[in-house]
Amino acid sequence: MRAFSIALLVGFASLPGLAQQFGRSDLAPYIPTPQIIVERMLEAGRVKPSDVVYDLGSGDGRIVITAAQKFGARAVGVEIRPDLCRIAQQRIKALGLEERVSMIQGNVLHVDLRPATVVTMFLMTSSNERLKPNLEKDLKPGARVVSNEFPIKGWKPVEALVVKTGAMEHTIYVYEIGRTN
Ligand SMILES: C[S@@+](CC[C@H](N)C(=O)[O-])C[C@H]1O[C@@H](n2cnc3c(N)ncnc32)[C@H](O)[C@@H]1O
Repeated sequence: MRAFSIALLVGFASLPGLAQQFGRSDLAPYIPTPQIIVERMLEAGRVKPSDVVYDLGSGDGRIVITAAQKFGARAVGVEIRPDLCRIAQQRIKALGLEERVSMIQGNVLHVDLRPATVVTMFLMTSSNERLKPNLEKDLKPGARVVSNEFPIKGWKPVEALVVKTGAMEHTIYVYEIGRTN
């Protein structure tokens, strides 16, 4: 019985590792980026009207909506949670942005990123690590990857901006395919 309990405990202790190995899909909890940081991220990614911005784990759609509204870009949000996807879709429709902004409900690890010229994300360092092979495979030289708070291990940022909002300090990491990896 004791041996069984110990085995169970060891099993639980290594559950995160096991889950990761067997394809856990949640890469980060939902924490929205403050609007001022959204804008600084898109500026840092040098987003312009000819760009296609993908936000990986797009929450309520604030980054893709801002990319279209303020920067004139086309944008695609990828979000695993159906409730957040619905909220984003309602906002996109209410703002009349359906021509420029679309949503994919699904796991970012299984999405084709080839159309993206700019990728934004606010996930976690370990999640960035899991996404890195897809970014390396799909993105073309010159594409920018902008990560809020969490770096991409093994890539050298072309810029790391520190932005203050009240008492909080945020770091925005900017990468450029061909220059950072
Ligand atoms: C920290 S929030 C960032 C939301 C938004 N990008 C922003 O900056 O306001 C991370 C988001 O990633 C989503 N997410 C987590 N794992 C995911 C996955 N495997 N595929 C797609 N979305 C995912 C979460 O549901 C959450 O909405």
